[in-house]
Amino acid sequence: MTDTLTMPERASKATVTDSLSVTDNRTGKTYEFPVSEGTIKATDLRKIKTSDDDFGLMTYDPAYMNTASCRSAITYIDGDKGILRYRGYPIDQLAEKASFLEVAYLLTEGELPNAAQLDKWTEDIRYHTYVHTNIIKFLEGFRYDAHPMGMLLGVVGALSTFYPDAKHIEDPANRYVQRVRLLAKLPTLAAFVFRHSRGLPYEFPRNDLDYVGNYVNMMFSIGGKHEPNKVLQRALEILLILHADHEQNCSTSAVRAVGSSHVDPFSAVSAGIAALYGPLHGGANEAVLQMLDEIGSKKNIPAFIEKVKSGEGRLMGFGHRVYKSYDPRAKLIKQTADQVFAETGMNPKLEVALELERIALEDEYFIKRKLYPNVDFYSGLIYQAMGYPTDYFTVLFAVGRLPGWLAQWEEMLMDKDQKIARPRQIFIGKDERNFVPMNKRA
Ligand code: ACO
Repeated sequence: MTDTLTMPERASKATVTDSLSVTDNRTGKTYEFPVSEGTIKATDLRKIKTSDDDFGLMTYDPAYMNTASCRSAITYIDGDKGILRYRGYPIDQLAEKASFLEVAYLLTEGELPNAAQLDKWTEDIRYHTYVHTNIIKFLEGFRYDAHPMGMLLGVVGALSTFYPDAKHIEDPANRYVQRVRLLAKLPTLAAFVFRHSRGLPYEFPRNDLDYVGNYVNMMFSIGGKHEPNKVLQRALEILLILHADHEQNCSTSAVRAVGSSHVDPFSAVSAGIAALYGPLHGGANEAVLQMLDEIGSKKNIPAFIEKVKSGEGRLMGFGHRVYKSYDPRAKLIKQTADQVFAETGMNPKLEVALELERIALEDEYFIKRKLYPNVDFYSGLIYQAMGYPTDYFTVLFAVGRLPGWLAQWEEMLMDKDQKIARPRQIFIGKDERNFVPMNKRA
């Protein structure tokens, strides 16, 4: 196998004759393990023992830096070459030509829909956009300044109680209904969360509008009126497409891990939203804007960069576990930013961001560590120009990522290799000791 092959090419070339020989220097024994698809099975290592009662060798891999937790046919990334494909289709072609619902179908159902399939898919989703009005009572329980992501993960989890049938995850037709429900209802919930933050009356779904048009209308309609801006709506749709899946990222792994207990999909997706909330994941675009505010103007950039290099904080929106070159999504987002700012006028923070990127990309610290702008570096600026508040950005990410979570959940359930997610540990605590009564404790 050569290094110039892509992962799928390597996988197709791999044969069972590929193997790995390992000599255990503790015992002098040699073992041979099959190598398939560029991997060995971690459980094969358990055969390496020093004695019969030895548990066997394990791998230590905090944060799963080098562990494939599944075989997946959904999203392909080559981090060094900056390639991202959903089901084989390059992300730039999908961003240019597809609608978000087409991409959602592609991810969850496996192929691009034909015209009849897309009609049915769109109709099914349209039919389910309303949520039970009791959800509004839950929202009213949140404080006026509750973070939108905290509210969203709460109400999505709560939906599982409205659809107890969602527990029947063994039934494919039932799983389809739950996928449709989630895709239909998440924009409604996401808009309700926004209206709650603003103290605005809830705007109910309008099923004469398309997916993005309806979402934007529920967000911004005042007194039942909203003048849609088609350029901004398409820009939002592109951003949703760019976020729709990203293979085994933190939130997707959370959905898979929680879903592996066979809980209903509303609960599993709620766990994904919780993971996305964190500032090292979906929360980063919010953090980028805070960072740009903190920097204030171009003249303060060199001092800020020095602070980052000395270990005081990070350059938010830079760096990625997988991409070690320019994130292909960041390139497309930069193009989208131009279209949006032509409509809304220039965001003064964009100048700071462009200069920050220029300086960072020339700086030895960032070059050496292969730190490039990621999807979050420019997305926040666009969202802000479109009128979304900073703490709402991650909600938009969640709406975009939902098809990916659902596709990965389905794939996990159908995968015969999968069981309940349950890592091992290296125990480093105290050995057995006797209970100490209170009057004898230090
Ligand atoms: N700013 C400054 N230094 C950085 C940054 C950054 N944004 N990211 C990584 N580094 C440095 C680390 O300090 C480390 O340096 P060292 O080798 O001298 O210790 C080196 O680069 C490697 O960093 P790791 O933390 O090991 O990289 P990892 O793959 O674990 O982290 C992550 C990836 C979490 C995205 C990281 O780059 C980061 O924190 N970026 C900022 C937050 C961000 O933008 N997150 C959004 C990610 S995209 C998404 O979730 C959609």
